[in-house]
Amino acid sequence: MSAGARNAARPAAAERGGSRRAASVAPLGRRRCEVLANRPAGGYRIFSALDPVGPEPVGGQFYMLAAEAGWGVRDGRPYLSRAFSVAEAQPVDGGIRLDFLVEAVGPGTERLAELEPGEGLWVVGPLGRPFSRPGDLAPGIDGAILVGGGIGLAPLAIWRRQLSDAGVPVRTLIGFRDREHAGGVDELFECCEVRLATEDGHAGHRGYVTDLLAVMLRGDAAASAAVYACGPPAMLEAVREMCLARGVVAELAMEAPMACGFGACYGCAVPLSGGGFMRLCVDGPVVGASEIETALVRGSGHR
Ligand SMILES: Cc1cc2nc3c(=O)[nH]c(=O)nc-3n(C[C@H](O)[C@H](O)[C@H](O)COP(=O)(O)OP(=O)(O)OC[C@H]3O[C@@H](n4cnc5c(N)ncnc54)[C@H](O)[C@@H]3O)c2cc1C
Ligand code: FES
Repeated sequence: MSAGARNAARPAAAERGGSRRAASVAPLGRRRCEVLANRPAGGYRIFSALDPVGPEPVGGQFYMLAAEAGWGVRDGRPYLSRAFSVAEAQPVDGGIRLDFLVEAVGPGTERLAELEPGEGLWVVGPLGRPFSRPGDLAPGIDGAILVGGGIGLAPLAIWRRQLSDAGVPVRTLIGFRDREHAGGVDELFECCEVRLATEDGHAGHRGYVTDLLAVMLRGDAAASAAVYACGPPAMLEAVREMCLARGVVAELAMEAPMACGFGACYGCAVPLSGGGFMRLCVDGPVVGASEIETALVRGSGHR
């Protein structure tokens, strides 16, 4: 990675950031982390690595990851690193333990899902613009409603913990398609109450997580809460439209195809509501609901 490319990308994010919470800035270059654990989490897996350098990420930031061994061996794939939201980060002896939630959908995620303790993991990050605290989004906003869909619950897990540490009241809504595409709630939200929706009805409300959000937004407390969402594009677009229609401030953690992760390739361009594009890797992945034209971004990898 060229230092020039990374530094050239950063001012755009900072300019667009306004009153948003400052991101943790990644050290230059990739670094080797040791894999500490890899455990099942329903239909997904959670793997952990020891980052000897840091800094500690803020919820919504992501890392570019590649396994040290067995990367690019199947017909050259996966060649590039893969973007991953950090699901939790905790200081431990020797550095910071980073947790990632993975759904195996292709060669990169399949390899990461089978990492074993002691293996090496190449890491660049933390990258991108994180979630903002409720009070930084609008005056009088002092609570949070988290809305996660599928693997999209990953960045909400660390953000919930960071909001709770800051004394912000949080309500959490999580939706899954079916049992096979569900996991991580017991492991990443074990501390707190989560309202579940599943399309196949195997747990919680039968239907969409946005059904739960619609009910919650009709309640009194909704006027003083910000919505934070991450999930498949259709879910994010439904959340975006619902919040814009009701005048509720909302931030969305989005995905787009990311080849570099630091602003150099323009592969992650997303249309802005006022015209033009943003590079999601440096101006996102967390965006304001009114900032983008649509959350229906192609090629994000998850349905
Ligand atoms: C900011 C960010 C955070 C992320 N966080 C996580 C996370 O926490 N956990 C996680 O599991 N994943 C996460 N992802 C998604 C992950 O990085 C991608 O799914 C990644 O591309 C998977 O790599 P792969 O080699 O396994 O599969 P790929 O070969 O990249 O394919 C992945 C899927 O996307 C489809 N696809 C690929 N390219 C296109 C395209 N151009 N148009 C339409 N469909 C396409 C493929 O058919 C396949 O189903 C995140 C992505 C971003 C941008
Ligand atoms: S991933 Fe390369 S510019 Fe965003």
